Amino acid sequence: MGTSTNFLYLSEPDCIDAGVLDAARCVDVTQEAFDLLASGDYLMGGPNHNSHGMGLVFPESSPFPNMPVAGPDRRFVAMPGYLGGRFDVCGNKWYGSNHANTAKGLPRSVLTLMLNDKDTGEPLCLMSANLISSARTGAVPGVAARHLARLDSRTVAVLGCGPINRACLRGIASQLPKLEKVYCYDLFAETAEKFASWVAQEFGVEAVVEPDLKAALNDADVVSVAASRVEPLVVEESWFAKGATILISGPITPDEAFWSNSRIVLDHVPLHEAYVEEAVASPDKQAAYNGVIGGPLYRLIDEDKLPALTDFADLGSVIRGESPARTNDDERIAFIACGMSVFDLSWGYEIYRTAQERGLGTELQLWNSPYTD
Ligand SMILES: NC(=O)c1ccc[n+]([C@@H]2O[C@H](COP(=O)([O-])OP(=O)(O)OC[C@H]3O[C@@H](n4cnc5c(N)ncnc54)[C@H](O)[C@@H]3O)[C@@H](O)[C@H]2O)c1
Repeated sequence: MGTSTNFLYLSEPDCIDAGVLDAARCVDVTQEAFDLLASGDYLMGGPNHNSHGMGLVFPESSPFPNMPVAGPDRRFVAMPGYLGGRFDVCGNKWYGSNHANTAKGLPRSVLTLMLNDKDTGEPLCLMSANLISSARTGAVPGVAARHLARLDSRTVAVLGCGPINRACLRGIASQLPKLEKVYCYDLFAETAEKFASWVAQEFGVEAVVEPDLKAALNDADVVSVAASRVEPLVVEESWFAKGATILISGPITPDEAFWSNSRIVLDHVPLHEAYVEEAVASPDKQAAYNGVIGGPLYRLIDEDKLPALTDFADLGSVIRGESPARTNDDERIAFIACGMSVFDLSWGYEIYRTAQERGLGTELQLWNSPYTD
C-alpha cells in the first residue's frame, strides 16, 4: 500500500499574505542563509556543488519554426539546491525570462519555486516565486548594507528602476535608519519617474529622477545596481563618492580603476569559482564572462591585474567575523551578488511555514497512492 502525497500551492496573493514583502524579516533570514553558506551546510547544482544553475540557452536561429531563438534577456534557468540548518530542505527555482514579456503586461521573468522533502523527493510546496525571488535578491544587498555601508548613509542612487531594484531598495532601506534621499536613474525617464513616486510613497523620503548618471553617483553614499542588459551601464571610478558602498546585483561596466581601487566583497567565493570553471569549460570563455555579473572582475584576475578569487572576502565570512566589515568611513566597498538558490530556499521555506501556520494556500494532491502495475 502506498501513501498519499499532498503538497501546498501558494499563489502570489497567498505569498503576500504570508509576509513575502516584509523586507526586514527577509534580510534577517537571508543573513542566516549566508551564515550556513560560510559554514558549508548547503549544496547547489553541478559537481562542484556551487553552480548558480543550469540554463537553457536559445540558438541565434533554428530550422524549426516553433523553437525559441535568442533574444534580449531570453532564457530559462533551473536553480536547484539544499539548505541545511533549521531549513533542512531541497528545492528548485525555475524561471523563464524574456525582455519582450513587458509588452504583454508580464514581468520580464516568470518564476516558480518547488520545495521538496530532502529524503523522499516529494513536493512540499509549489509557490509563485516572483516576489520570493525579488525579495531575497533585495535582501542580499540589505545584508551587505548592514555590514558594509557607512552607518550615517543618507543617500542612495538606484541604477535601473525595475522590480529587482525596488526589492533591493526595500532591503537596503531597512538597514539605513538615516536615509533621506534616493536618486533614480534609468534609460527610460517614465520608468525612473514611476520609481521615484513609489520611493516617496513607500519610504517617505525625497526621491529625484537624475538623468545624469555622474551627478547621481557623486552624491550617493550607497549605490544599488540592478539594470537589465538593454544597454551596458558604463561608469568611471571618479564618479563615485568617497566612502561609497556599491551594491552590485545586476551587470555593470566600470573602468579598471574602479575594481583596482575599491575593496571588493563577494557574495560567496565558491560561486564565483564555479562561474569561472564553467566559463573555462564552455566553447567561448569571453562570451560566458559577458553573461555574468562578475565577468569584468574575472577578466582582470586572468590578466593578473587583481588577486585570485580566493583572496577576496565574502559576505558570510564578514558576518562570521572571519573577514573585516567596513574599517573606516573613507573606504569604497563594492559588493557583488549574483544570486543563489539557497536564498530562494531560505525565504521560500519561511513563507511556506508561515502559510502553514496561518492556514493559507491550497492543498493539492500528487497521488492518493502511487500508481503501480
Ligand atoms: N543578483 C541577483 O540575484 C539577481 C536576481 C534577479 C535578477 N537580477 C538582475 O537584476 C537586473 C534587473 O532585473 P529586473 O527584473 O528589475 O529587470 P527589468 O528589465 O524589469 O528592469 C531593469 C531596468 O533597467 C533599466 N536599464 C537597462 N539598461 C540600463 C542602463 N544601461 N542604464 C540605466 N537603466 C537601464 C531598464 O530600462 C529597466 O527599467 C537584471 O540584470 C537581472 O538579471 C539579479
